[in-house]
Amino acid sequence: MEAAQQAGISMKSSCGGQGTCGRCTVKVLEGQVLGGEGNISRKKKAEGQILACTAIVDGDAKIKIPPESILQEHQVLLNEEEDGLLMEKQIEANLAYADHPFVKKVRVELSEPTLVENASDWSRLQTEIKGILETEEITITHRALQQLPQVLRDGDWKLTATCLMRDNGAQVIRVESGGSELPPYGIALDIGTTTVVAALVDLNTGANVSQAGTYNRQAAYGDDVITRIIYAEEEHESDLGSHDVSNDCLYDDGFKNAAGLRKLQDVVMETINSLLDKIYLEQGLSKEDVSVMMVAANTTMIHLFYGVEPRFIRREPYIPATAFFPVMKGKELGLKIHPDGEVISFPSVASYVGGDVVSGAFLVEMEQKEEISLFIDIGTNGEMVLGNSDWQMCCACSAGPAFEGGGIDFGMRAMPGAIEKINIDPDDAYRVSYVTVNDEPPVGICGSGLIDCLAKLRTSGIIDRQGHMQKVETPRMRQGEEGPEFVIAWSEETGFEKDITISEADIQNLIRRRALSMPASA
Ligand code: FES
Repeated sequence: MEAAQQAGISMKSSCGGQGTCGRCTVKVLEGQVLGGEGNISRKKKAEGQILACTAIVDGDAKIKIPPESILQEHQVLLNEEEDGLLMEKQIEANLAYADHPFVKKVRVELSEPTLVENASDWSRLQTEIKGILETEEITITHRALQQLPQVLRDGDWKLTATCLMRDNGAQVIRVESGGSELPPYGIALDIGTTTVVAALVDLNTGANVSQAGTYNRQAAYGDDVITRIIYAEEEHESDLGSHDVSNDCLYDDGFKNAAGLRKLQDVVMETINSLLDKIYLEQGLSKEDVSVMMVAANTTMIHLFYGVEPRFIRREPYIPATAFFPVMKGKELGLKIHPDGEVISFPSVASYVGGDVVSGAFLVEMEQKEEISLFIDIGTNGEMVLGNSDWQMCCACSAGPAFEGGGIDFGMRAMPGAIEKINIDPDDAYRVSYVTVNDEPPVGICGSGLIDCLAKLRTSGIIDRQGHMQKVETPRMRQGEEGPEFVIAWSEETGFEKDITISEADIQNLIRRRALSMPASA
C-alpha cells in the first residue's frame, strides 16, 4: 500500500491499514510478496488476491490493483445556484461584514521626498494609511517592508496597500505599485472527513466568486476520524521510510516521531492547495491575491490541519487540545495563499462537535431566535444542534457508514462508476436499470444507490419488511458465499470481471447501520 502511495496511487483504506476492512485487495502477478492476510473473502483468496496493507514486498514485484481498490475522485455536490434563503443570508452577512472587514485594500499617493521633506518611505506611508483607515496602530510585515522602496518608486509614488484589519489597527501585508483593480480576496474552506470544498470570496462584497471541491486525500489513511487518529498516533518515522520530519518547524522538540500526524497534515494541505490552484487558474489570480482563509472543520480534522496531536480526542474523557486554534500565517502551514495572509478557524465545541457545525448554526442565527430549531450536518461525521436564543444542545455520531456504503460488499463512495440510482421491474423478470456517477461502467453502489436499492427490493417484493430475501423467479436471485444474494449488474456490464450483487447480509447491515447511526446517538 505504501509503494502504491509513493507511486501516486491512492488506495481505498477504510480501516487505515489494519487489515480489517478488506478494501485494499490486489493481485500479485510476479515477484515475491509476503503476508497480505486479514479480512479477505475465500472467493478473493481463491482468485489469488491479497490485502495490500498487510503485505510486505520482498524484492521486485508486479502487482495488479483492481479498479474497485483505487480511491478515485468523488462526486462533490457544489452549490451552483444559491437558493432564496441562502442568498438572503449572504446579503445579511455581507451587510454585517461591511462594518468589520477582515481585509482592506487602500490606494495611496505620496508626495515625492525632498531634502527638506525627508521622512522614511514607511513613515510617510504609515501617516497616509492612518488617515484613510482612521486608526492609530499601523504596522507592516518584514516582507512588505523589503518591497516598499522599489514598489513606491516603480509606481511613481502611487501604491496599493493590502491591510489586515485588527480591533485597534491594521497590518500592511502587501504593497503593489500603482492602483490595483482587484478586490481583496479570501478563501472559505470546509474540511470534511471525506470531502474538502473551497470558495473564493470577494472581501469587498462577501460574494462567492468561485468554488471547487474534491475528496480529502486523507481518505487513503482511513475512512473515519477514529481511524485517522489511530494512524496519526501509531505511524512513526521509521514506518514511513525516507519521510523526513526533523526539519519542519512545526514538528521540532517532542514531535520527532509524529510521522503519521505529519503525513495526514501534508496530504490535507496537498488537497487544499490543489483546490486553490484550480480556482486561481480559473480566475487568473495568484496566491498573493488571497489575504485570509477561514476554515470550518470537525474537531479531528482541525487538529490534523494544524498538525496538533489528536490522540486524546478518542480516549475517555475525550479531550481535544483546544477549542480555539491560534491565528496562523499561510506560510507557516504551507498553504497557497499570501505568505503573510491569515488562517483563522471556527472554534470547536467538544471532541466530536467541531467548527463546521458551529459555522452552520452561526449562519442560520440559531442563537438569535426564540423558536427552537434543529440544525443537522450529515457528513462522514454527523453533527446536530438543537436550541434557541436561551439554550443550545449538540451531539455527534458516525453517519458515514450509513450513507457511504461501509460494511457492504460492493458499497463505495460516490465516485465515478458508483451506482447512485436503481430501478427494478418485477413485471419484466426483475430487470434492473441503474444510473452511475459520470455514466461510467458500474464498480459498486454508493450510499444513495443503496437506499434506492433497498426501497426497490422491497417494492418489487424481493425482500420482506425485515429485509429477508424472498423466493422470486429470476436468474438474478442466487445463493452466494454469505447467503442469498441478488445480482444488480452482470459481469459483462461492470468495470471489472465480477457481478455486482447485494446480499441478505448486506441488507441486514444496511438496515442496522441506518437505524442506529442517527437516533441512538442523538
Ligand atoms: Fe487493508 Fe483495510 S484491509 S486497508
